[in-house]
Amino acid sequence: MSDRGKQGDNVHDAAKKNILAEFQALFFAMRSLSSYPWHSFERALQRADSSQIFVELLERTCLHPVCQKKPPSAKYRRRFLTELIKRHEATASEPLDELYDALAVVLASEEQCVCYKSYFLPAGGAITLAENEATISEGTTGMVTWEAALYLAEWALGNPQAFQHRVVLELGSGMGLAGVAVCRSCHPKRYTFSDCHPGVLRRLRDNVKLNGLEDPGGPRVAVEELDWGAVADERLRDLRPDTVIAADVVYDPDVIDTLVSLLRRLLAIPVLTRPSDIYIASAVRNPDTYAYFRRQCGKVGLRHQVLTEPVARIFPYNRTSAIEMIRLHL
Ligand SMILES: C[S@@+](CC[C@H](N)C(=O)[O-])C[C@H]1O[C@@H](n2cnc3c(N)ncnc32)[C@H](O)[C@@H]1O
Repeated sequence: MSDRGKQGDNVHDAAKKNILAEFQALFFAMRSLSSYPWHSFERALQRADSSQIFVELLERTCLHPVCQKKPPSAKYRRRFLTELIKRHEATASEPLDELYDALAVVLASEEQCVCYKSYFLPAGGAITLAENEATISEGTTGMVTWEAALYLAEWALGNPQAFQHRVVLELGSGMGLAGVAVCRSCHPKRYTFSDCHPGVLRRLRDNVKLNGLEDPGGPRVAVEELDWGAVADERLRDLRPDTVIAADVVYDPDVIDTLVSLLRRLLAIPVLTRPSDIYIASAVRNPDTYAYFRRQCGKVGLRHQVLTEPVARIFPYNRTSAIEMIRLHL
């Protein structure tokens, strides 16, 4: 084969690898099937043995070891495989047994309301979290991972020094994505996940265990009940965080005053070595609610800086709502 031919093959191989990696990330995060890069996939099918690509895709998704242990929901896998079968049959003359075998496994598995979502890290490995499928369930928004948590995790992976050797408190942790990413990659000294909802706290504890954060050698990790409106000053002084983070906590106008008052109290706690930092990531779904939060921060003397440096895209999520990350200080 000529050099030019070899180069062309290498380019196609690299494109196929990228498409498979993108499908894998979307599958394990249970993103909507319409967000998959189907056009690129179809282009790759035209250039190669199409059945082989479907088999490789199965190996990266339904047959992947992560899926064998902690799978996305059965409903999601069923829809995914049905779509693959439809697309395979549009391009090949013979049905592909591997696709039907995988579907048979899914059809035989029981439907559960808990599913697993996995988010692959650039350094290797994945964060796997048990989550509910519905965005609001058990009377809380905390049983799923929200976009702002994924953004905050991406920001943390690019700014590990903001957490290194720090005593970190996370407010409204939900399923724990941001905290697990910080503990895995940013070497905090101590990390406290917190929330107020009993169901969220139970699941959060399971997720912390599932991701091996209680293993010796890592940071000291705790999961605590901490209600923004009820936590005593004494408890905050005991925790003495020098870094506080929160994702997607600015969404309910009724609790903004309580949250802002807690942030003000946290910044007033004396810390040993440096002024405290508070980082808040918010998906700005309702600009009025968000503007109210920023106004209330200003009223109690909290100044803020919008962090605008580019953040590497690592996780797949819906980026249609603007996400703003701020650092609050006195
Ligand atoms: C939209 S969810 C965000 C969860 C997570 N940070 C994320 O971004 O994926 C908001 C979280 O804040 C928690 N929360 C709401 N009000 C709270 C309060 N008063 N005290 C503590 N946590 C609260 C909820 O239980 C929920 O887990």
